[in-house]
Amino acid sequence: MLPSLCTFLRAAAALTATVHAIPQDGSWGGGWDGGSSSTSTTTSSFAVAAAASASSTASSTASAASSTSTTACNNSPDLCSRAYNKVTHMGAHDSAFLRDESTSNSIAGNQYYNATVALDAGLRLLQAQVHDLNGAIELCHTSCSLLDAGTLEAWLGDIKTWMDDNPNEVVTLLLVNSDSKDAADFGSVFSGSGIDVYGYTPSGDGWPTLQEMITAGTRLVTFIASITTDSDYSYLLNEFDHVFETAYDVTSLSGFNCTLDRPTSQDSASAAISAGLMPLMNHFKYNSLGASIEVPDADNIAITNSPDTDTAGNLGLHAQTCNSEWGTVPTFVLVDFFNEGPAITTADNMNGIDAVGRSTVAETTTTVSTSTAAPPPRNPGMGTGALVAFLVATVATLVLV
Ligand SMILES: *[C@@H]1O[C@H](CO)[C@@H](O)[C@H](O)[C@H]1NC(C)=O
Ligand SMILES: *[C@@H]1O[C@H](CO)[C@@H](O)[C@H](O)[C@H]1NC(C)=O
Repeated sequence: MLPSLCTFLRAAAALTATVHAIPQDGSWGGGWDGGSSSTSTTTSSFAVAAAASASSTASSTASAASSTSTTACNNSPDLCSRAYNKVTHMGAHDSAFLRDESTSNSIAGNQYYNATVALDAGLRLLQAQVHDLNGAIELCHTSCSLLDAGTLEAWLGDIKTWMDDNPNEVVTLLLVNSDSKDAADFGSVFSGSGIDVYGYTPSGDGWPTLQEMITAGTRLVTFIASITTDSDYSYLLNEFDHVFETAYDVTSLSGFNCTLDRPTSQDSASAAISAGLMPLMNHFKYNSLGASIEVPDADNIAITNSPDTDTAGNLGLHAQTCNSEWGTVPTFVLVDFFNEGPAITTADNMNGIDAVGRSTVAETTTTVSTSTAAPPPRNPGMGTGALVAFLVATVATLVLV
């Protein structure tokens, strides 16, 4: 009997974790990046990293709360008096879509750690994609049959709890509204989670300082791409009324630039900045597995997330280049696998701060997995080519953005 489609897809996603280790020129070196939990060695090496992170998170959450409650805003006293749009907010791209044991290390996953771990580690922007699932708003990656991370309401509830525990922190959400739900649908989910109480509504007089937002208790900024704004839910902001982005579909290390990609209503980055839009620098790389399949590139993550400024693809170099081209720091940055680099270092450099009250999340580098994990069992029935063909047939265009 055939497994259900859902099980089959999950298994296929786990299997394809090996696919992206294949060099682009097609030569197969037998590389293995730890993408499957099917061997005991892999499972235990992953568990050690997870346990290390869990304990460091637990102990530093307490210190974060105590050290930031009086003097620091977003992990530094220097940021309290800075305007929201002049701070670089480091963000986790597709932050709900995990490549961990909960998803059998799905290649559709863009992060090794969840949203609250990201917040503990200093990230202040969480991005995710939402879809309609039987009328509910669900966190799904491209398709709910590929990767379903649960309801938006449950995810918001976790973030709300974190914000309750960390009262001096300003958090930003960016939600991709894949099925064009309206503001009232989002509004009821936001109220259901309780997080709406923190919603910030711009006054039209420019962005306040972090301290002003904290004092007012409105320290959650929510952008939705895209939405028709509704005065009943004035804290739900249409992203491209406030933000412009650089290209998000980058497949080579030399492919990052600072050119405006969206919204198309603006001619250039400088025009967008003059119009008061805040810059969002997308900085994550995909591997192409075939004509229409792209998956997050974990293999080059040490280069992609590095704060260095000397190698094509470095996060530090991209941020420095954009800062110089734009005459202003990127307000927002989105990365995959945020704990690698670590990416937050580049935000600290842009902000010119020595951060306090933050946890360090273990870097789960692919090198570690390669050296400790045994190769996964070969799938007897499906080679790489067949698997890619299967995914193409299943999901017409699998660009996991
Ligand atoms: C996020 O992951 C951490 C560590 O694995 C876990 O303790 C925590 O419960 C998770 N948070 C949520 C909201 O699921
Ligand atoms: C910027 O980068 C994107 C993605 O790599 C590319 O498509 C675009 O052509 C680049 N623009 C310029 C002006 O180089």
